[in-house]
Amino acid sequence: MTQTRARLTARAMGTPLDRLDGTAKVTGTARYAYEQPFAEPAHLHPVQATVAAGRVTGIDTAAAEAVPGVLAVLTHRNAPRLAGTGDAELAILQDDRVAFRGQLVGGVVATTTETARYAAGLVRLTYDEQPHDVELRADRDDLYAPESVNGGYATDTAQGDVEAALAAAPVTVDRTYTTAMCHNNPMEPHTTVAVWADGALTLYDSTQGVYAVRAAVAPLFGLDAEQVRVVSPHVGGGFGSKGTAHAHVVLASMAALVLPGRAVKLALTRQQLFFLAGYRTPTVQHIRLGADLDGRLDAISVDAVSQTSRIKEFAEQTAVAARMMYAAPNRRTTHRLARLDVPVPSWMRAPGECPGMFAAEVAMDELADACGLDPVELRVRNEPAADPETGRPFSSRNLVACLREGARRIGWERRHPAPRSRREDGALVGLGVAASVYPVFWMPGSSARIRAGADGRYTVSIGAADLGTGTWTALTQIAADALDVSVERVDLRIGDTAFPRATVAGGSSGMTCWGSAVVHAAEELRDRYGHEPPEGAEATGDTGENPDTERYAMYAFGAQFAEVRVDADTGEVRVPRLVGVFAAGRIINPKTARSQLRGGMTMGLSMALHEHSYMDAQLGQVANHDLAEYHIAAHADIGSLDVSWIDEDDPHVNPMGSKGIGEIGIVGTAAAIANAAHNATGVRVRDLPITLDAFLA
Ligand code: MOS
Repeated sequence: MTQTRARLTARAMGTPLDRLDGTAKVTGTARYAYEQPFAEPAHLHPVQATVAAGRVTGIDTAAAEAVPGVLAVLTHRNAPRLAGTGDAELAILQDDRVAFRGQLVGGVVATTTETARYAAGLVRLTYDEQPHDVELRADRDDLYAPESVNGGYATDTAQGDVEAALAAAPVTVDRTYTTAMCHNNPMEPHTTVAVWADGALTLYDSTQGVYAVRAAVAPLFGLDAEQVRVVSPHVGGGFGSKGTAHAHVVLASMAALVLPGRAVKLALTRQQLFFLAGYRTPTVQHIRLGADLDGRLDAISVDAVSQTSRIKEFAEQTAVAARMMYAAPNRRTTHRLARLDVPVPSWMRAPGECPGMFAAEVAMDELADACGLDPVELRVRNEPAADPETGRPFSSRNLVACLREGARRIGWERRHPAPRSRREDGALVGLGVAASVYPVFWMPGSSARIRAGADGRYTVSIGAADLGTGTWTALTQIAADALDVSVERVDLRIGDTAFPRATVAGGSSGMTCWGSAVVHAAEELRDRYGHEPPEGAEATGDTGENPDTERYAMYAFGAQFAEVRVDADTGEVRVPRLVGVFAAGRIINPKTARSQLRGGMTMGLSMALHEHSYMDAQLGQVANHDLAEYHIAAHADIGSLDVSWIDEDDPHVNPMGSKGIGEIGIVGTAAAIANAAHNATGVRVRDLPITLDAFLA
């Protein structure tokens, strides 16, 4: 068991080092997956199901095969047989069944992308179409309780007697909130270049985890892990959609097996992402709060409903934040799922916390209203002394400091407590607040290797990922401090299974897990060789264990404030100001951290006002599956974004004292905007996204 002996002293950590990969990116020399150069690559274009449920009854590939330049047409009749079909999302082209519209049912490989795409359109499939069911409703009679929810959390929890407490409470809130289906749209689409040569499969893949892709792909093809190499040094965004291997990686690998020695390139189109790369499930959340007249909570109840696919279960952990956020002796949470004929839902930035805290934090605003209390004060009054569910102390919890600082920054004292009482230039103006939270996850299983080079340089290798987040830079800073040298003397290598094993860039856990491994490797190197190791000296270290994760509840916290202006005539909603204050342990690089938090808040505003994958119940597909109709916040939608953090010293989380920052920025933003819109207009919006029709009553 590896355990850190001492906390790391910050020298490079805490400095706003420019991105080490910045020059390569802006000069176009940073190679993304699709840009790997190959002589005469082949190009793959998927064929997707055009029914939402049923079976393929006829396949005619003659016209596609007759197109000059077509190298192969794959369908379930001729595709390589997979060794494992346990993951039905990945087990494509193995039989004639169709589980959702857009599912992969074939692929065309050709000498150019244009030829592949054209020929894919000539593949004729006929279907025995079956009725489909894609409608999520909380009153369905076939909802079921999963074994557990994403993250390994318990499906249901209960403490005390919620019903009795609610019945006795002088003040209650009893409301239902909904969040929309949303799709991740990273700038770089999902891309894979697959090459099968000399008994080994190499994948240049846009992924959040090279080892996760290898672990998914190798057994499917009956290969040993060592026969699959995954390379991914640069990634243009993921947000969770690249955290697990999706079916397109299998299709590209199949095509490579059929064309040995030839690189097969696949880049999903923007439209295809809406079927094949996961999405945030819509949620329906019934929240009941019971409090005394002073706003002190006595009961919290959350019943969350979301959807999963017919072929693979994903259970959004929507209600988990309600388990630890505020004090209350009586509490219960439940999660139920509807199994539908839809694509497989998956991770989208802060799964669970993001949709869950929208509902919970709007409910808290409603409680503040009902009690005639300031919403900041209400939250302060319900601060728990320890994790309400487990009784464990928090390793650090500075929500109140975030709320106070955020209130100061936005000028909370200028807020009119009475809704619809501030009007400026034809707009109704309001301020709102919501809290934010995200867990600090410790995932064992990463290793780092450090090798001493000539002239006092060190090479640090680990199969970690940089999605655009800043891993290249921040992990170099950690390594420099761990080795007690300047950052110029550290050469970091990431994004390749040729380097030691690393966990996925997910759950905001990258720096905690990879950084700990790097620190332990540096300790090992110093133990063995002292401060001036000879050239070629090498040591490895693991993430290891952190016994404090059993003793403490570990979370980052934040406070989000919004100023909202609603046009009194048109109902148009604008958000001229967002203020986010976070308590996330030591900030390793203030420049990349600010960018992460700003990005999260931007995505939260986008969720609040724009993002909505509209499910067409008759067609059984997301109707607005492109960026023309799926709206994402653009520059003109974003006003002032004030991002800051409070100094937080947490000796328990990891040797760096850091907490993750990739996801907390999105949590609570939408609630702050909804609460500000209520303060501006008196209209309580409980369903996302918030659109102008809500204000035109
Ligand atoms: Mo993030 S949704 O944990 O990749």
